[in-house]
Amino acid sequence: MSNSAEAAGEWIDVGAAADLAARELQQVMVGRTRVALSCVEGRFAAINGVCNHVGGPLGEGRLDGDYVVCPWHHWKFHRATGEGEPGYEADRVPRHEVKVEGGRVFVSAEPTTKRGKLPHPPHRLARPVVRESGPIRVLGLSTTAMEKGHPRYSTSEDLLEHALAVARESRGCETDSSSCATSSSATARASTARPRAPAPGRARSRRWTRATSSSVSTKRSCTGPT
Ligand code: FES
Repeated sequence: MSNSAEAAGEWIDVGAAADLAARELQQVMVGRTRVALSCVEGRFAAINGVCNHVGGPLGEGRLDGDYVVCPWHHWKFHRATGEGEPGYEADRVPRHEVKVEGGRVFVSAEPTTKRGKLPHPPHRLARPVVRESGPIRVLGLSTTAMEKGHPRYSTSEDLLEHALAVARESRGCETDSSSCATSSSATARASTARPRAPAPGRARSRRWTRATSSSVSTKRSCTGPT
């Protein structure tokens, strides 16, 4: 047992190893603490299940290699160390020790590292509002959660597009729309000041469009899934 494991104190039985190994990532409760338990090639690891960003449930996300991807806005944390993705290591969630004994998985009740948060510049929408000359600009925000791989019809998205079309075509406004969906990890991360390379085929750019354009659909992060 490692020194950090010895320092871990109480161990909590979170379930049968055979059952827990069937899923590469899941949320388990360690006392009252949400923990993201992962298992890759039979090797378990555990980190705190609450995302540094705005508290997304890491155990309900997915794995990208050795990184747990938050399901809300796709921040990543190493499944074993809790550190943020390369370049953001100091933005980390606590890690827990894990051991398997007698076919059961035990997670340390106490984490062996502390949470660390990096300061992030304010979101650009938080800037002071200045009324520039030109047409009125209308921004439509949708909080519908959908992904390219799991598209679904959304009445609110349709209604939003209809409202924006009226603003463009009847009122001469410039319009833009954004969704707090989980489809674009690149723009989601960028919008919260963690720029990184776009995921192939998923990133979309944000832009203002004139009244003649109807192809305004971009993705922006929000504070939770809807
Ligand atoms: S809550 Fe996890 S990335 Fe936003």
